[in-house]
Amino acid sequence: MANYKHLLLVPLALASSVLGSPAKKCEKTSVAILGGGVAGITAAQTLSNSSIHDFIILEYNSDIGGRMRHTTFGQDANGKPLTVELGANWIQGLGTNGGPQNPIWLLAQKYGVNNTYSDYSSILTYDETGYVNYSSLFDDYENAYSVTEELAGTILSENLQDRNARAGFTRGDWRPKKDMKMQAVEWWEWDWEYAYEPEVSSLVFGIVNFNTTFYQWSDENNFVVDQRGFNTWLKGEASTFLKKNDTRLRLNTTVTNVTYSDTGVTITDSQGGCYQADYAICTFSLGVLQNEAVSFQPEFPEWKQDGIDNFDMGTYTKIFLQFPPDKVFWPKDTQYFLYADPVERGFYPVFQSLDTPGFLEGSGIIFVTVVHDQSYRVEAQTDEETKNQVLAVLRDMFGADKVPDPIAFMYPRWSLEPWSYGSYSNWPYGVTLEMHQNLRANLGRLYFAGEATSAEYFGFLQGAWYEGQSAAEQVVTCLNGHCAQEVHYSPLYGSTPPNQYDEQNGWTVTSFQTNGF
Ligand SMILES: Cc1cc2nc3c(=O)[nH]c(=O)nc-3n(C[C@H](O)[C@H](O)[C@H](O)COP(=O)(O)OP(=O)(O)OC[C@H]3O[C@@H](n4cnc5c(N)ncnc54)[C@H](O)[C@@H]3O)c2cc1C
Ligand SMILES: *[C@@H]1O[C@H](CO)[C@@H](O)[C@H](O)[C@H]1NC(C)=O
Ligand SMILES: *[C@@H]1O[C@H](CO)[C@@H](O)[C@H](O)[C@H]1NC(C)=O
Ligand SMILES: *[C@@H]1O[C@H](CO)[C@@H](O)[C@H](O)[C@H]1NC(C)=O
Ligand SMILES: *[C@@H]1O[C@H](CO)[C@@H](O)[C@H](O)[C@H]1NC(C)=O
Ligand SMILES: *[C@@H]1O[C@H](CO)[C@@H](O)[C@H](O)[C@H]1NC(C)=O
Ligand SMILES: *[C@@H]1O[C@H](CO)[C@@H](O)[C@H](O)[C@H]1NC(C)=O
Ligand SMILES: *[C@@H]1O[C@H](CO)[C@@H](O)[C@H](O)[C@H]1NC(C)=O
Repeated sequence: MANYKHLLLVPLALASSVLGSPAKKCEKTSVAILGGGVAGITAAQTLSNSSIHDFIILEYNSDIGGRMRHTTFGQDANGKPLTVELGANWIQGLGTNGGPQNPIWLLAQKYGVNNTYSDYSSILTYDETGYVNYSSLFDDYENAYSVTEELAGTILSENLQDRNARAGFTRGDWRPKKDMKMQAVEWWEWDWEYAYEPEVSSLVFGIVNFNTTFYQWSDENNFVVDQRGFNTWLKGEASTFLKKNDTRLRLNTTVTNVTYSDTGVTITDSQGGCYQADYAICTFSLGVLQNEAVSFQPEFPEWKQDGIDNFDMGTYTKIFLQFPPDKVFWPKDTQYFLYADPVERGFYPVFQSLDTPGFLEGSGIIFVTVVHDQSYRVEAQTDEETKNQVLAVLRDMFGADKVPDPIAFMYPRWSLEPWSYGSYSNWPYGVTLEMHQNLRANLGRLYFAGEATSAEYFGFLQGAWYEGQSAAEQVVTCLNGHCAQEVHYSPLYGSTPPNQYDEQNGWTVTSFQTNGF
């Protein structure tokens, strides 16, 4: 009899896997954290801080950090490879003496992350004929910007309809359409931060984003040159609650399916691994969610899917060149070189020197940044095509005889990375706070966090940090038996009741007007 029973078990196991129930037993955990970037690691630390130690972190890459990512590029005079940041590079908004501080600034200081003040007034202006001084246009832009930010404040406080940043600038008498030098200045002031043109950017939330970081803390941006990489601080924080080779951190793990409900979340990875969690926190980028890189079951309800689809995932591409250090052709005491192309807006517009005191002096490295459509074009090109275009621009700017061939050349392709599909999010015009809350809200026991779910700090490291902390705090509340669902809005009527600005987000129009501006 025992023999017959043994034979019967095989077809039964096959039948159950055909019917879709997993043949393999799922590993059980209280909280599954999907992604080991700033939001994911901060969520895990928040759980730890609340004495919840039963969690796992599932991460696609072979290390933590996510979009805070570096690589080696070129080498110094001693042949030692140099480290440059592919993703986040600045600590944006530092802190006020005795006042509020950016958490990223505090963490960078805690781990001695080497950084240098980015001097945005250290800039020279160029066009296709070479150096041309059009820096008076910065003042014109800034005058228009004052009108624009006040208008955004009025729209917010009077609950008027949002409009695009272009409409705001026009109210300030800034009309760059027919002038490529004005376009270059506008790119430097707007697109370089938001990775999108003013036409497609929300006026109100663009200004809220700027005010909360730069008027709450400080207007300073410090550029990280640490040869251990910017993510040193995140690894340091992780090491306070994860042991070496901690089995709760699963690197090289690609999540493929997430099945959520009101009772739990089941996750599978590309190797057939299966995890059964009481709660999950999804920190995948907006780009990953938009590109259906991971399959969610059941399919997202319309309010959630619309929330995901209505936001924009920007691409910001840094293109690095190293020249022989003894042949550096740009003035070494200047940090930035702005280029106004005669035909295309945003065509290799901002060159940034690393061979400058306080940066990577003596390195011969300079890099140029493109965003949005120019990023898509560049990221679809070969290195050779891009290198030739950049060199042609540099030779127009500095003189054909002055610019040698680079000894190293490299750039990341953010729009094509299956674990990010872009660089960071932007708030498009016409999208309300309610729609944003739908992007942010939980679905049963599946919670969402990341830079894009922050209404104030989207696009910034601080957004990912606050959101990772906040989602984990919600999960802690649930695990302690006092669970409250996050609000979502369905249907949407295209306006946000004024009281929601402060109830949900704690910021008001007048909160951040006092820091010396
Ligand atoms: C080029 C660039 C420049 C930037 N510059 C700045 C700056 O100067 N200052 C600043 O403050 N911010 C900057 N940012 C933004 C900042 O990097 C982000 O806001 C922040 O790193 C986002 O953290 P996150 O945890 O929300 O997302 P992520 O870092 O994307 O973390 C999500 C994690 O999920 C993982 N993942 C994705 N898919 C899967 C899957 N299927 N299975 C398992 N794991 C998966 C990813 O590998 C990633 O580690 C920049 C970003 C880029 C790309
Ligand atoms: C966890 O607690 C430590 C020690 O108090 C603190 O430094 C850290 O910021 C906390 N982490 C989060 C995400 O709140
Ligand atoms: C992850 O993959 C990389 C590259 O394939 C490998 O070097 C590394 O050892 C792996 N790490 C883990 C923890 O599996
Ligand atoms: C460029 O012109 C402005 C006045 O518009 C002047 O203040 C500035 O010094 C000039 N810059 C250089 C480098 O000559
Ligand atoms: C932003 O700050 C400026 C300057 O303090 C203020 O005039 C404006 O109302 C603020 N706008 C918003 C949307 O917070
Ligand atoms: C961690 O794992 C690596 C690779 O498997 C091993 O060499 C190392 O000794 C381990 N460290 C500890 C502290 O267990
Ligand atoms: C994972 O998702 C894919 C695509 O939706 C689907 O075909 C597959 O059956 C799912 N697998 C599991 C284990 O749920
Ligand atoms: C910080 O970076 C600067 C510039 O690259 C370098 O000179 C300095 O030695 C670095 N400091 C530390 C502590 O690494």
